[in-house]
Amino acid sequence: MAARAERSCGLWALLLLGGMFAGVLGTSPEIKTQVTGVAGKLVLTCNMSASTTAIDGHEWVHGEKVLQTDSKSSSVTSYTIEGKMEEHSGLYECIYKGNPVVKGQVNISVPPQVVPYKKSEHGNEGDTGVLTCKSPSFPPVSSWVWYKNGQEPIVNGSGRYIIKSSGNKTELRILKLNIEEDTGDYHCNATNSQGYGGATVNLRVRSRLAALWPFLGIVAEVLVLVTIIFIYEKRRKPDEVLDDDDGGSAPLKSNATNHKDKNIRQRNAN
Ligand SMILES: *[C@@H]1O[C@H](CO)[C@@H](O)[C@H](O)[C@H]1NC(C)=O
Ligand SMILES: *[C@@H]1O[C@H](CO)[C@@H](O)[C@H](O)[C@H]1NC(C)=O
Ligand SMILES: *[C@@H]1O[C@H](CO)[C@@H](O)[C@H](O)[C@H]1NC(C)=O
Ligand SMILES: *[C@@H]1O[C@H](CO)[C@@H](O)[C@H](O)[C@H]1NC(C)=O
Ligand SMILES: *[C@@H]1O[C@H](CO)[C@@H](O)[C@H](O)[C@H]1NC(C)=O
Repeated sequence: MAARAERSCGLWALLLLGGMFAGVLGTSPEIKTQVTGVAGKLVLTCNMSASTTAIDGHEWVHGEKVLQTDSKSSSVTSYTIEGKMEEHSGLYECIYKGNPVVKGQVNISVPPQVVPYKKSEHGNEGDTGVLTCKSPSFPPVSSWVWYKNGQEPIVNGSGRYIIKSSGNKTELRILKLNIEEDTGDYHCNATNSQGYGGATVNLRVRSRLAALWPFLGIVAEVLVLVTIIFIYEKRRKPDEVLDDDDGGSAPLKSNATNHKDKNIRQRNAN
């Protein structure tokens, strides 16, 4: 009984192995991919082995964009990028044209390359402050954390904080901004499978009055001018009545009185 069970087990294993082998042969040939960085350049390479069909050419694709195309029949194809991995992270595909078409995937994976929407944000006392960080790099960010002035991580929903994170973007909202409590440096920290990266955003909170200063300045200026004119007028009036010898130096007097004065003077002269 035991021996038979063993034999049947071995048979199953053999069948399974055979099936796997057939699977490898029957499906797409194996493509080895590689990324090498040499002298500020990135070389992406695909190497197809065990190809049974003819190759009519190659194509390199990134997203919707065709980067390079040729009609060579070699099993090895490469694409060169000028620059650093951090600037060109993403999913690249090498396509072997023919029947069937065979595709290989080359990933340029980097830790999150975090950039703040603005390095410094301003908010008015009492308003809602919004700080934003983004990471355009591949692979996408798996988690975002916000810190304030190197303290404990900010917990979503605690105090006046609300955090909204969606894929490659995070937003920290601070409700009812307070000058003493909220002014300072905030740090956003992103993590993906390759590591982490962060950025700092400085928040300045202005008092409500500060926003009004230019307006208040104008109001004060007008008040001072009006007061000066008023005082000047009050002081000047009694003087004018006393020494009104020459009518020319009294521009504030009406023309009618000037005329009367002149007439009187003329009559006196006559
Ligand atoms: C491609 O792979 C084969 C083995 O699979 C290897 O012998 C050959 O050297 C490789 N070619 C390149 C350019 O890496
Ligand atoms: C490339 O990244 C994609 C998406 O994250 C993943 O499904 C795939 O396995 C990766 N390929 C390689 C060769 O690492
Ligand atoms: C934070 O909490 C709000 C609701 O209080 C929710 O809408 C939001 O998705 C949460 N953010 C995160 C990152 O969990
Ligand atoms: C994040 O960025 C990567 C790389 O540009 C992109 O592949 C991915 O779709 C983006 N994810 C989201 C949720 O926007
Ligand atoms: C960012 O988060 C990672 C993982 O939690 C942590 O190791 C790292 O110290 C953090 N960096 C900063 C600057 O907070």
